[in-house]
Amino acid sequence: MKKSELGLGTWQFGPSHGFWTEAAEEAPQTLIRFALSHPIRHIDTAPAYGNGLSEQRIGSILASLPNRGELHIASKFMPKTVKTVRHDVEKSLGRLKTSYLDTLYMHWPSSSVPLKPILDAALQLVEEGLVHTLGLCNTPLSLLETLEDVPFTTLQIPCSLLWTKDLEALRSYAKQRSIKLVGYSPLGLGLLGGNHREKPKDQRSSLYVYDTAAYPHYLKLLDTIEELASKKGCSPAQVALLWALHQNFSTILVGARSTAQLAQSIACSELTLDEQEKSVLDEMAGRLVSHAPASCDNLFGYRW
Ligand SMILES: NC(=O)c1ccc[n+]([C@@H]2O[C@H](COP(=O)([O-])OP(=O)(O)OC[C@H]3O[C@@H](n4cnc5c(N)ncnc54)[C@H](OP(=O)(O)O)[C@@H]3O)[C@@H](O)[C@H]2O)c1
Repeated sequence: MKKSELGLGTWQFGPSHGFWTEAAEEAPQTLIRFALSHPIRHIDTAPAYGNGLSEQRIGSILASLPNRGELHIASKFMPKTVKTVRHDVEKSLGRLKTSYLDTLYMHWPSSSVPLKPILDAALQLVEEGLVHTLGLCNTPLSLLETLEDVPFTTLQIPCSLLWTKDLEALRSYAKQRSIKLVGYSPLGLGLLGGNHREKPKDQRSSLYVYDTAAYPHYLKLLDTIEELASKKGCSPAQVALLWALHQNFSTILVGARSTAQLAQSIACSELTLDEQEKSVLDEMAGRLVSHAPASCDNLFGYRW
């Protein structure tokens, strides 16, 4: 099976709300330059990442790049009101120092406001060229079915061994409609990288992957990943990422806090999982389904 494109996630670029505050970070600008000196051309951000800090830090590099047209820059908006869509996207463009977004995603579906008029406002930005394509994040099948006539092109959902519940159904939904799938958190918010046998000290510890009941089961998956990694002569993070890169998504977004971490992700282009390794991991992931939140719109414990 063909591997997905690797994209750079930048939630880590904007520590806020208690997330990603632990330990010293390598400067985001260094990480972006490192990514771009390798074949990474897809960068994913959101106003929510550090209240605009992630976008701002990307913008500080983007403005000086000669090849903006070769990059895919994606950001997001929260569905609040029809009017705030344009306002929020213009702010994102200002922080990113670019005249357009390659993809604009609705970050989380809302339970309290009608989505159609808000998505129509986002589509208006596509017509005007401020945005090239519209995407949806974290939208479960039940909601997707009510949005059949919205011409979105991309669906961003988790893609990790820790959350495979609706994966097959979402994959088949996307295939039938020629919608691109973009996967996030392939390393389970760091857990599958193997450095968090103790829960992280930042706000990640409140998220589902570190949930007190589920966490011991996830650590058993990590044991299997570590065994496989040692047989293959690679790192646990690479095994977890390779599994995600083999899920038939268009792009997999990985986060990193150092060039050393990102270098391992990039080196996955030279590695592969054989069918037997993949089926061992598939089987473990299948057994973990009941420990994860039921739906991808509530992965982080709230529904916007
Ligand atoms: N649409 C959405 O709602 C949504 C939600 C979540 C994420 N995303 C996007 O997807 C991107 C990726 O997901 P993510 O950042 O949440 O999680 P992730 O990629 O699963 O995990 C990233 C973390 O894994 C650890 N890591 C990375 N490389 C490693 C290595 N080689 N060895 C050991 N550990 C390693 C680091 O943890 P430490 O920091 O602990 O070192 C890093 O911060 C985000 O940055 C964001 O752009 C979107």
